[in-house]
Amino acid sequence: MSLYELTYCSIASNNLKQKDILKILAKSKEHNKKNNITGCLLYHNHEFLQIIEGEEDHILKVFEKIQQDKRHDQIILLEQGKKTNRLFENWNMTYYDLNSKEHEDVNKQLFIDNLINFSQLSLKNSNGVNLFWRLARQLLLT
Ligand SMILES: Cc1cc2nc3c(=O)[nH]c(=O)nc-3n(C[C@H](O)[C@H](O)[C@H](O)COP(=O)(O)O)c2cc1C
Repeated sequence: MSLYELTYCSIASNNLKQKDILKILAKSKEHNKKNNITGCLLYHNHEFLQIIEGEEDHILKVFEKIQQDKRHDQIILLEQGKKTNRLFENWNMTYYDLNSKEHEDVNKQLFIDNLINFSQLSLKNSNGVNLFWRLARQLLLT
């Protein structure tokens, strides 16, 4: 079995609501768990940034579906390739919405700090992971 990773960004469709995102997330978690796919999805200022890792066939198949999904467009494939170890071991799809009013400023700051620490830990990782964290930082700081 070969481990594969893929990173892309996209723009949410105009009429996308919070409840649509929750639906995407629920489906993703269920499907990813079944297929042993792990990763992280960020949503900020109508932009998605996602990294997925798992068996090559599964990753390519789910990305086909994701590309056809009408809930976002302008999908840009940023990086894909083989890797040796999982970074998101226990996360079938972790998600953070920084637009959400539920998060107080202090939570947001804590999240950003954690994310930056985490991204520094992963410096030894693949190009795709490094790119994901670099773009995540940019996205969060805009
Ligand atoms: C931004 C975004 C991220 C998504 N991420 C995943 C994902 O990680 N895993 C997944 O199975 N589906 C994901 N989806 C949903 C798929 O596009 C698709 O709707 C889902 O796999 C259900 O497919 P099915 O109708 O064949 O069951 C995502 C959709 C969007 C818009």
